[in-house]
Amino acid sequence: MTIKRVGVVGSGIMGSGIAEVAGKAGFEVILRSRAQATADAMVASLEKSLGRQVDKGKLDATERDAVLGRVRAVSDLGELTECDLVIESIVEDLATKKHLFNELDRIVQDGAILATNTSTLPVVEMAMETGRPQLVCGVHFFNPAPMMPLVEIVRAITTSDETADAARAFAETCGKTPVLVKDQAGFIVNALLFPYLNNAVKLLDAGVATREDIDAAMKGGCNFPMGPLELLDLVGLDTSLSILEALYAEFKDPNYAAAPLLRRMVSAELFGRKTSRGFYDYHKK
Ligand SMILES: NC(=O)c1ccc[n+]([C@@H]2O[C@H](COP(=O)([O-])OP(=O)(O)OC[C@H]3O[C@@H](n4cnc5c(N)ncnc54)[C@H](O)[C@@H]3O)[C@@H](O)[C@H]2O)c1
Repeated sequence: MTIKRVGVVGSGIMGSGIAEVAGKAGFEVILRSRAQATADAMVASLEKSLGRQVDKGKLDATERDAVLGRVRAVSDLGELTECDLVIESIVEDLATKKHLFNELDRIVQDGAILATNTSTLPVVEMAMETGRPQLVCGVHFFNPAPMMPLVEIVRAITTSDETADAARAFAETCGKTPVLVKDQAGFIVNALLFPYLNNAVKLLDAGVATREDIDAAMKGGCNFPMGPLELLDLVGLDTSLSILEALYAEFKDPNYAAAPLLRRMVSAELFGRKTSRGFYDYHKK
């Protein structure tokens, strides 16, 4: 399986980061957003991000131009036909993802790998929407994708050895450290991380400490680079709630039952950095 052309579907926090990583690794990237304006805006923000790296001396200008030459933004899913690997990174909702896999299976050439960047959802259910379940796996990047070294390669019960090997090789070419994990909700990182994040919201809600002190405690006491409430704002509270719901649905463990405050904040559309308000306020002062 030779991967040259990579499709990325979804223009949120993760889709744009994955496109940057794959473009920098030398892959031809087709980035698909439902609206051409959003797709173009992502390329503009990629240009900005690469520009900052040039200014800091981390990337040379020729390389920046080469990366931009390799990334193309489209709105038509049909443009993904000739991809060798498509990674979907749309909203964390199983029905929406299943529908997309069904469409991708009809559009993307035979033999291509269809991958999901889901944080928790069952990969096998997406695989079974296609006529090529052996070619479907999870390729789970972390946020922000250009900086975080880990990629979880999620092997569904239907995934072939060749597909898992090709996905692992792709992650390595992207300069990442892949780990292989079974298709079980939360995989490794989120299964361990989310009870902790969820319990931080419960502590805040119980008035045990302020948001600043909860975050300061975990940074200062455990040497974590970010506090749990800051991290939830980065991940997105809507995505975090979906992750907890998928974990709870799988294990029925009360540690995964979403904190009521988290649910209320999502209802109020306080999604974190992406809406400029979550546990903290990110509006420009
Ligand atoms: N945020 C994180 O920290 C993180 C980390 C790793 C993986 N993920 C996973 O990546 C995926 C995307 O998350 P994100 O944080 O980028 O979310 P996001 O909210 O930033 O972006 C979601 C994108 O999905 C698009 N979308 C919504 N409904 C759609 C539909 N019906 N069809 C096509 N596109 C649709 C939205 O327009 C948006 O561009 C999710 O599966 C999430 O679990 C997120």
